[in-house]
Amino acid sequence: MKQEISRRRTFAIISHPDAGKTTLTEKLLLYGGAIQLAGSVKGKATARHAVSDWMELEKQRGISITSSVMQFEYDGYCINILDTPGHQDFSEDTYRTLMAADSAVMVIDAAKGIEPQTRKLFKICAMRHIPIFTFINKLDREAKNPLELIEELEREFGIGTYPMNWPIGCGKDFKGVYDRERKEILAFTEFHRGQNRIKAIECDINDSESVDELIGPYLRKQLADDIELLDIANYDFDLAQVRAGRLSPVFFGSALTNFGVEQFLNSFLEMTTPPLARETADEIIDPMDERFSAFVFKIQANMNKAHRDRIAFMRICSGKFERGEEYFHVQGGKAIKLAQPQQMMAQEREIIEEAYAGDVIGVFDPGIFSIGDTVCAKDMKVRFEGIPTFAPEHFASVERIDTMKRKQFDKGIMQIAQEGAIQIFHQPNSGIEEVIVGVVGVLQFEVLEYRLKTEYGIDVRRRALPFQEIRWIDSPDVDPTTLNLTSDTRWVQDFKGNNLLLFTAEWCVDWALKKNEGLALREFNNN
Ligand code: G4P
Repeated sequence: MKQEISRRRTFAIISHPDAGKTTLTEKLLLYGGAIQLAGSVKGKATARHAVSDWMELEKQRGISITSSVMQFEYDGYCINILDTPGHQDFSEDTYRTLMAADSAVMVIDAAKGIEPQTRKLFKICAMRHIPIFTFINKLDREAKNPLELIEELEREFGIGTYPMNWPIGCGKDFKGVYDRERKEILAFTEFHRGQNRIKAIECDINDSESVDELIGPYLRKQLADDIELLDIANYDFDLAQVRAGRLSPVFFGSALTNFGVEQFLNSFLEMTTPPLARETADEIIDPMDERFSAFVFKIQANMNKAHRDRIAFMRICSGKFERGEEYFHVQGGKAIKLAQPQQMMAQEREIIEEAYAGDVIGVFDPGIFSIGDTVCAKDMKVRFEGIPTFAPEHFASVERIDTMKRKQFDKGIMQIAQEGAIQIFHQPNSGIEEVIVGVVGVLQFEVLEYRLKTEYGIDVRRRALPFQEIRWIDSPDVDPTTLNLTSDTRWVQDFKGNNLLLFTAEWCVDWALKKNEGLALREFNNN
């Protein structure tokens, strides 16, 4: 068991849409022999959409909503890539996927640098102190100056960087990269486009004649200057800092032409960690602990139209999972057998007999799981720290049109909220039946309406609400009914009964804090 766990590497790839996440994932799978042809990742996604009904919407929009997990073997490692949806409207799903990863690979478009989505995702990684590896992509196109890119990363994210390699030119003049550790040039030629392996050329940077031959005197001079500057002024390499998430190793390359991907993969696997320990309310669980434990980080409904099923994805935190074994669902307070445990092996969904800490398994969910739930060995009964609920950014009031269908409406909206696709709130003791829905991206409203209609047969009326800010009340002694608030502030509860306040502007939050002594507010919720 220990051997199996220690060879696992579980990471997420994050990026702003279009930076090249799908392309890089595809190339990594190629090295693992998990796919034969480039293009299969996208191909696979299309095939899967054909069998899942609510993703019709996704197909119409031509965007990727769902995230999946892919496992493959490479060089003795068992790699789990947690793929995250690229569209910014689905960032909450991405946030949660990051909770299941032990490290993150951040793909950046060399021409664009840091983009809004990268910024948001980085914050989540930083919150968990997970190691972040940066892949600066598309060097075969015109790019920003690499020194500027490095400086931007350090300034914006407040972390150190250590370029593992350094680009030589870009776009039409892209000549390759200089490997700082091996001190050799990895040459890029048109001939290498899309090739699996790329020949490295050992080339002493001071041997001006042979370097000139390879990259020309102008680029040689620039490379020598840049490297000198990096050696003197940039951070030193320190693996402990990398693993603590304080120093990000940076790689330059071009995923599309498969340039620098293999070097990245090898170096990344050496530096990243096997499954990390996880905190519970009372103790820290070592992945090598023989008792099985896992937490649910994602729930996906109706992946298969024929079965109307719901799958809960859980990340195994310790021990070994065995099919048929009875485990304990902590939040439900019940012993359970996990039905139809499955894993994504490249393109196939397979029923599995066993899995280990670091792995992600999908299990059939009869509607009992919520995001953040713990499942563990019966003698364990731990509770992993919840997955933070992020503040929704858009609010609407949702009412059913057909007043007779109350039951279906309640069930539908509750199930969708349990999956974490939306957050629902209601006004306590008001007698009003209105449900307030909060989402991170507005497209989720459409997904909600579509699913309520197709899966539950409910038509709804939606009205946008003007709230801008949301805060969970973090002081148990405060009675929300007695608070002094601006007239447009609303007290609501989430479906777990936590108290919150909805504000129309930032200054109303300040007002609430100023006028109510002892009131503590939080921007996200862990329960
Ligand atoms: P994403 O998952 O992060 O959203 O990005 P994706 O990999 O889909 O890449 C976005 C576009 O950028 C794609 O082009 C892809 O081919 C291109 N791309 C990715 N890596 C590189 C690279 O290293 N160099 C260059 N020049 N282009 C790259 P597209 O035309 O939008 O899609 P497609 O028609 O090629 O699938």
